[in-house]
Amino acid sequence: MIPQEIIRKTRNKKELTKEEIDYLIKGISTGDIADIQAASFTMAVFLNGLTKDETLNLTLSMRDSGEIIKFKDINGPIVDKHSTGGVGDKVSLMLAPMLAACGAYVPMIAGRGLGHTGGTLDKLDSLKGYQTNVGIQLFQKTVKEAGCAIVGQTKDLAPADKKLYAIRDVCATVESIPLITASILSKKLAAGLQYLVMDIKCGNGAFMENKEEARKLASSIVNVANGANTKTTAILTDMNSVLGNTVGNVLELKEALDYLSGKTPDSRLKEVTDVLCSEILVNAKLAKDNLLAKAMLQNVIDKGYAYERFVKMSSMLGADTFILENYDTMLPKAKYVKPIYPQTAGYVSKIDTRKVGIGVIVLGGGRTTPIQQINYTTGFTSFCQIGDKVDTKTPLCYVHSENEDNIKEVIKLIQEAVSISEIRTEKESVIIEKII
Ligand code: URA
Repeated sequence: MIPQEIIRKTRNKKELTKEEIDYLIKGISTGDIADIQAASFTMAVFLNGLTKDETLNLTLSMRDSGEIIKFKDINGPIVDKHSTGGVGDKVSLMLAPMLAACGAYVPMIAGRGLGHTGGTLDKLDSLKGYQTNVGIQLFQKTVKEAGCAIVGQTKDLAPADKKLYAIRDVCATVESIPLITASILSKKLAAGLQYLVMDIKCGNGAFMENKEEARKLASSIVNVANGANTKTTAILTDMNSVLGNTVGNVLELKEALDYLSGKTPDSRLKEVTDVLCSEILVNAKLAKDNLLAKAMLQNVIDKGYAYERFVKMSSMLGADTFILENYDTMLPKAKYVKPIYPQTAGYVSKIDTRKVGIGVIVLGGGRTTPIQQINYTTGFTSFCQIGDKVDTKTPLCYVHSENEDNIKEVIKLIQEAVSISEIRTEKESVIIEKII
């Protein structure tokens, strides 16, 4: 086979065979196919798309480019959730131990922040000692004994995706439905999942801003994952405001720990977490229906079982558990904490959520270069929601910063991001629809 002839076919909108896709992906993984050829292929896909069969074959080929993890001697369904990325989205941190406490096993391969969105791995890296970069054996052992493990992609897991992702990132070919589908699912399928729920974020803080695009991505992922024998459904959720009260790594970790220890959570964060967890519990037959699933979830929070799972997972992965037992006082804190007030009093009518995510990057809590060391303590707390009343005494949020100089810039950014009106606007429902 000749690489340029395969690329030419995609460029000319001709369907590729499974053998051609396998050849291309194998060559990309080994380096026999040059990065410029891989880049051309991603641009041809970006411009012309792929058929359903091609997307499935690409996903399977990328999954098979590395090791496929097997879990032996475990007595329960192997499940996971994946979000397409948002602002303030800390659901994975609660969902994995909650599902583990309900009898599921959750081998979660998570990512770092991408663009303006936060990443689960960065949030966990803010916990002293927690290793997100572990070998497959420790990953398997942690899943087996704690019921869940949240780690990063190892070098042996879907290496074709690692290579293609880095190429797409610098060739303007990230936002392609078949490429996103294959990228996410190659890693998820390599983790040996039986059940998956996708949280497809939709709105001004998500990669898919409108419902049409979000629905297309959801259908593509659901079709391919089910075609690969992982029972998958997708929930479209709103990302037109911050999810929960906090944005920023250690601040989100603290909100997640508060949630797991039974403190009253933000209602939208609870709704998203409950819906995604229930979807898995019902699909995996651990609960008969959503009502029972919600009761199980409340029980594992009330009895402290979910928190115990989080502590067990973290300690197996190297975290200092003394910090977890005393997280209120022991988690690191930023040097400066200041309220951000609105310029006029009124009701929050709209939030440019992407700008809030950018605010975290300005504070050093997200990256502007791939290997940048980030400030885990920075971000926002008590972030306002649509419909909230704000004035000179009630702030839009509090900014947490390590550096006094960038606070002024961030105050301006947040004041621009939050629109105020004299009339109260009702919040949109956070759960938009389910795609099966
Ligand atoms: N997350 C991934 O893992 N891959 C993509 O292409 C987009 C989001």
